[in-house]
Amino acid sequence: MKKKIIIANWKMNPGSLKEAVSLTKQVEGGIQKNTNARVIIAPPFPLLLPVRKALRKSKLGAQDMFWEPRGAYTGEVSGEQLKRCGVSYVIIGHSERRIHFKETDAVINKKIKAALKSKLTPVLAIGETKRMPLKKIQRVLSRQLSRGLDDVSRRAFKNGIIAYEPVWAIGTGLAATPRDAKKTLAIIKEALQRLWKTKRVATPILYGGSVKAKNAASFVSEKGGGMDGMLVGGASLNAKEFVGIIHSAVKTK
Ligand code: PGA
Repeated sequence: MKKKIIIANWKMNPGSLKEAVSLTKQVEGGIQKNTNARVIIAPPFPLLLPVRKALRKSKLGAQDMFWEPRGAYTGEVSGEQLKRCGVSYVIIGHSERRIHFKETDAVINKKIKAALKSKLTPVLAIGETKRMPLKKIQRVLSRQLSRGLDDVSRRAFKNGIIAYEPVWAIGTGLAATPRDAKKTLAIIKEALQRLWKTKRVATPILYGGSVKAKNAASFVSEKGGGMDGMLVGGASLNAKEFVGIIHSAVKTK
């Protein structure tokens, strides 16, 4: 069975270094050695190094990056810099970046290419903003994928990950149903096959949006959502809850 991928997106939390290290240690303590999951923790930039020190079984992720390698770009952080801090994964195109910072698909495309150049694994986040019929969702996701991955070959994106996060499900407690997630999974696979003109697409596709320990299994089980893993926001700030998510993902067939 392929390892499930579970990403903790801490967003702009927690408030202190001490809390960040303690949360990391608690999560690490709850993960079994040789667990059948790929766990990634994505803290805010200033917490990357202290969190990295506390990591044993999980990998380090960042929540964003800039596309230039260095230079006069006040406030920005490059992929190269992240790589040197021990970051392996980077979330790109999260809906909060798209909404609050007006990131367009063109900007996201530049960041994806820069991440690949810096040998970081990009986690491209996509999703429709409000509830809509499946046909419309298909249009939105296909557009986000074809623009976000414009000029990015299947080979270049071979380790890349897609995170499907319906924006209306983020932080609301109203997760998508596993049945709807499964339908969207098929849409995303099809869009990638069209984009790369091949049926052989093995890109992992994750679900995100109000994932909790209680509903996690339903998104990754074969009979449920069939997703390859989950991108977890709010629930990743609670060690018990996040470890619960990892455990149920590992146990689920
Ligand atoms: P949530 O956030 O789990 O709090 O809904 C998910 C995300 O934004 O990645």
